[in-house]
Order: sequence, then C-alpha cells, then structure tokens
Amino acid sequence: MTAFTINGRAVKVAAEPDTPLLWVIRDQLKLTGTKFGCGIALCGACTVHLDGEPVRSCQTQLQDVTGRQVTTIEGLSPDSSHPLQKAWIGEQAPQCGYCQSGQIMQAAALLASNPHPSREQIVEHMDGNLCRCGTYDRIIRAIERAAQEN
Ligand code: FES
Ligand code: FES
Repeated sequence: MTAFTINGRAVKVAAEPDTPLLWVIRDQLKLTGTKFGCGIALCGACTVHLDGEPVRSCQTQLQDVTGRQVTTIEGLSPDSSHPLQKAWIGEQAPQCGYCQSGQIMQAAALLASNPHPSREQIVEHMDGNLCRCGTYDRIIRAIERAAQEN
C-alpha cells in the first residue's frame, strides 16, 4: 500500500510501486480530469502538482509520491473558482478540451510562484504543454487575464 494525499484527502493505494501515477489517479481514484496524451512526458496532458510543482503523472511512479501531496484539476479549487478557471471561461480557451486540464495545472504552478509573469515567461513556462487544436493564443490570454486578477 502506498499512502499519500490527493486533493487534501489521505489515500492508500494498492498497486505496483512503479505504476504510473496517471493510472492510479484515473483508474483507481476515478479522477478523470487528468488526461493521457503521449505517455512519454512530451505533451503535458497528464500534468498534476506534486507538493506544488507541476509534474507529468505519466512518468511519475506511485512510489515517488509516498507521503506527498498530489493535486489534480479536481482539487485546484473547491468550487472551480480559481482565477485561471474563471479566466479560461472568460477567454473561451478550450476547443476540444483534451489538453486543457494539463494546461491549467501547468499555468497554476506558474502563477503560484510568479503571480505577475511577463508574456515571455508565460510562453516559456507553457512551452512543453501541447495543444493539437492550436489554442495557444487563448491560453496565453487567459493566463494574462488571471494574473491581472491575482
Ligand atoms: S501523457 Fe504525460 S506528458 Fe503526455
Ligand atoms: S483544446 Fe484540443 S488539444 Fe487542446
């Protein structure tokens, strides 16, 4: 059994220690907001926070989260009122939506450490999160909007 905290809730999970965190989150804990894209840490669709830092859950093993705090999109705010979530709606950022929870989690880590990033800092920080629908401009606008309200 591996014990850790997810979205403020203490959990114990029975799985092989090298099980990708992504599958624990989706299949065992039924938190399906976190998506599988590439499985090899190249797209960012699976991004969650580990002790506040963005990580690719497809390449994070269950044993790596022992005793630590995991946050998924479902735990970003209790009522979807995080400034980024409001800005995402305001800018109508998603198209198909598949990449967007990873985008928001990546952006949330930026604003937590740098509440007023420059456009260049935003672009650099978001560089590894891919969107097949090409919503990049709206994502950047949404992050800038959230930063203004921060
Ligand atoms: S699914 Fe993890 S980075 Fe693509
Ligand atoms: S909104 Fe479709 S992949 Fe990003």
